[in-house]
Amino acid sequence: MSHSLLPLSGTKNEIYRQLIPQLQELVRDEVNYIANLANITAALKSALGFFWVGFYLVDGPCLVLGPFQGELACTRIPFGKGVCGKAWQLGETIVVDDVTKFEGHIACSTKSLSEIVVPIIRNGKLIAVIDVDSEQIAAFDDIDRKYLTKVAALVARLPGL
Ligand code: SME
Repeated sequence: MSHSLLPLSGTKNEIYRQLIPQLQELVRDEVNYIANLANITAALKSALGFFWVGFYLVDGPCLVLGPFQGELACTRIPFGKGVCGKAWQLGETIVVDDVTKFEGHIACSTKSLSEIVVPIIRNGKLIAVIDVDSEQIAAFDDIDRKYLTKVAALVARLPGL
């Protein structure tokens, strides 16, 4: 089955608002979570022009790289390490305006200057995170936090994950 996004326009807030129902539609008839996560990253990248967007999935004591769009990335992040591992430890979203100021930040690319990591929680347990990187300083704000949290909730309900 082929998919394409309807045209998206307006402010960042409006683009996210138009995108969320389309993401729901995108995953509606597919039960394979890799396929769904892969399409969600592609949709987020094309809609919002992210430098890097992807999922890290809990795998024992580490997060392991899942579907993503962007440059090559580190494959495993231990609990509590980096922004992703810290978001896992805290069970909270972390917004980093300047990655050079975040102690323990894991630099997969030197081009990445700011970052947001949003936990994906199912039945009170963190199962994965969404990680988005930008080439701009302080690229992420409460709008990204709000809508990526909605994406995380959608992903938490996906079958198979
Ligand atoms: N910067 C992340 C590592 C993942 S990459 O950004 C894709 C971190 O500190 O956890």
